[in-house]
Amino acid sequence: MDNTFAQDVLKGLTSNSKYLSSKYFYDDIGSRIFQEIMEMPEYYLTNAEFEILSLQSKQIVEALQFSTPFNIVELGAGDGFKTFKLLEYLVNQKIEFNYIPIDISQEAIDVLSDRLTKRLPGIVVKPKVGDYFEILKQNRQSDYPSLLLFLGGNIGNYNTEKAIELLELFHSNMKLGDKLLIGFDIKKNPVIIHNAYYDPHGITKRFNLNLLLRINRELGADFKIDDFDFYCHYNPLNGEVRSYLVSLRIQTVHIKSLDKHIHFDQNEIIWTELSKKYGLDEIVSLSKRTNFTFINHFLDCKHYFTDTLWEKSQNNK
Ligand code: AVI
Repeated sequence: MDNTFAQDVLKGLTSNSKYLSSKYFYDDIGSRIFQEIMEMPEYYLTNAEFEILSLQSKQIVEALQFSTPFNIVELGAGDGFKTFKLLEYLVNQKIEFNYIPIDISQEAIDVLSDRLTKRLPGIVVKPKVGDYFEILKQNRQSDYPSLLLFLGGNIGNYNTEKAIELLELFHSNMKLGDKLLIGFDIKKNPVIIHNAYYDPHGITKRFNLNLLLRINRELGADFKIDDFDFYCHYNPLNGEVRSYLVSLRIQTVHIKSLDKHIHFDQNEIIWTELSKKYGLDEIVSLSKRTNFTFINHFLDCKHYFTDTLWEKSQNNK
């Protein structure tokens, strides 16, 4: 049994306002459902970022001002689909670089490396499996400059305090002159954001409910999925999408491996996810707050999403 998972579930479900962390969405089944989300037309984030990397790779690479060879270190590489266009550009231009994808899943990394070496012969892939920061620490010893990639808008799943903590950790594990390319989903017409998360196909609902099924599978709980609904809400004033599971009746769920009964009132909610949307100035302020130098926003044509480039130009204060 994964102890941290069990402890976090216990803490979240015994809290006054119940919550579960969205980081637990991504077991094998959840990761597959997330692929389905990324393929929905309503989930504009994927296409927007794909467009940026398809049309602006040249500008991004020029803005790096790196000597060659350099490293591209991708945190949470997944299937590497978004990054492909950037890597393809570099290979076609015969620019020398090492691609270092990092992921916690050995399987995902194997599939990615295999596909890349087949589709981009000549690419140097040095995949790493494990903890981001251990691998970033090792990368500090590299003689080459590094571009860190944190794409897909994953930063939006951290609250401001946690986002700052994470960015400071990136900063302290980078060398002077290294760059960070980070994807942010931007504030826009609330209807568009609402439809991306409260989707008409029910895929995001399935994604959230899978968390209860995961607790059933891994911790021996007896959640009845039909007794829960999904709700989410975008607040354009603070840019936050918050997602919830809703108990449709009074019920008690038993979690065997925690030896715990959890009571739910009718209509009681479990908060499952934050997906924060940013204003462009907020992103620049965040770079300053975390000691980075902001270089440029690379936006898609609809201005829905930005891959923003920052530099580590000073050591930690
Ligand atoms: C992974 N992350 C950036 C996604 C997001 O948009 O917050 C996860 C997701 N949740 C619901 N739909 C997609």
